[in-house]
Amino acid sequence: MAKISIDPWGSFLVKDYEKLIGQYGLEPFTDELLKKIPNPNKLMRRKVVFAHTDFGRVLNAILKKKKFYALTGIMPTMDKIHLGTKLVIENMRYFQDHGAKTFVLVADLEAAATRQVSLEEGRERALDFHIPAYIALGLDPKKTVFYFQSENEKVKNLAFIFSGKITLNEYRAVYGNTEPARIMSSILQSGDILFPQLEQRIPGIIPVGPDQSPHILISRDIVNRTKSTFNFVPPSGLYHKFTPSLDGDLKMSKSKPHSCISIPDDIDEVCKRIRKALSGARKTLADHRKYGAIPEKDMSFQLLTQHFIEDDKELKRLYDEYKCGRMTTGEIKDITCEKLTKFMEDFEKKIKKARKIIPKIKFIK
Ligand code: TRP
Repeated sequence: MAKISIDPWGSFLVKDYEKLIGQYGLEPFTDELLKKIPNPNKLMRRKVVFAHTDFGRVLNAILKKKKFYALTGIMPTMDKIHLGTKLVIENMRYFQDHGAKTFVLVADLEAAATRQVSLEEGRERALDFHIPAYIALGLDPKKTVFYFQSENEKVKNLAFIFSGKITLNEYRAVYGNTEPARIMSSILQSGDILFPQLEQRIPGIIPVGPDQSPHILISRDIVNRTKSTFNFVPPSGLYHKFTPSLDGDLKMSKSKPHSCISIPDDIDEVCKRIRKALSGARKTLADHRKYGAIPEKDMSFQLLTQHFIEDDKELKRLYDEYKCGRMTTGEIKDITCEKLTKFMEDFEKKIKKARKIIPKIKFIK
């Protein structure tokens, strides 16, 4: 079987999450594992989190109240974020609440090298939008260490050293692409991922979409090959599914703006898009009442599951009502628009508040 090369900078579609697990050597996120996790969040409970790498290490730290860290990166390319980013932040928040030392870095060097965003532009955008947005979406700034890649000498030094530990062929096998800017960004990302351990060797968790899994796997290889110098603990990964495109493709993509939702977004426009989104209902109302819907195929329902309904009982009730045909697709879409409107309005309020605390944030260097 041909191996899929994941291009973290491209628009890779994960057609089959199972296949991805197999080919990339990710571990499935099983019920057994779920049972051991204290107060799992909705993404874990609903299997939006579908795979992991070496999560046991982190779980152990959580259960034994030992130190560990959680880390994520911001790409300051646009003045809005993808709805899917909300999933990363939700998982970061989970770990923050369960004792993780949390790190959020601005990938300004990566954005400059791969997306032609100048360092000044990236910095400004991160301060004005991305960091406040992350706080608005639930990250606790008091418990978070922030830095810019361009200002963190230690991360850059790590990357330089790591570059001697990986070959072009390995890089090509994992990414299918060998542009120097990408190689440098990838190695820098390994620097990010392992940087928190310079202070202390502790487990770390990197919650990401599956497109970022190669960075974690390569970082683990690097850990193996730098044992004698650094003796780092191999970092763990937690992978969530993409938020599907409104037309039913597996991932929202900027190339199809009508099938995308970003944060922020024009609420009326988004509700119109939701009206046109792929539905799980039958062709006629009579058939719908008779046979019921397929909620799994309904993009509105997916949005409710991944993003907008916290309470499992509430979600289950809608699922049952829709599946048996008592509720119509129109009613499901009404609920989705209502929840989304509330979410977007809430976000605006929260980001305004969060912007006020940005001057107080100290960025480590
Ligand atoms: N490459 C990531 C992205 O495209 C950004 C990033 C940089 C990152 N360093 C990281 C993500 C470390 C997780 C961990 O979004």
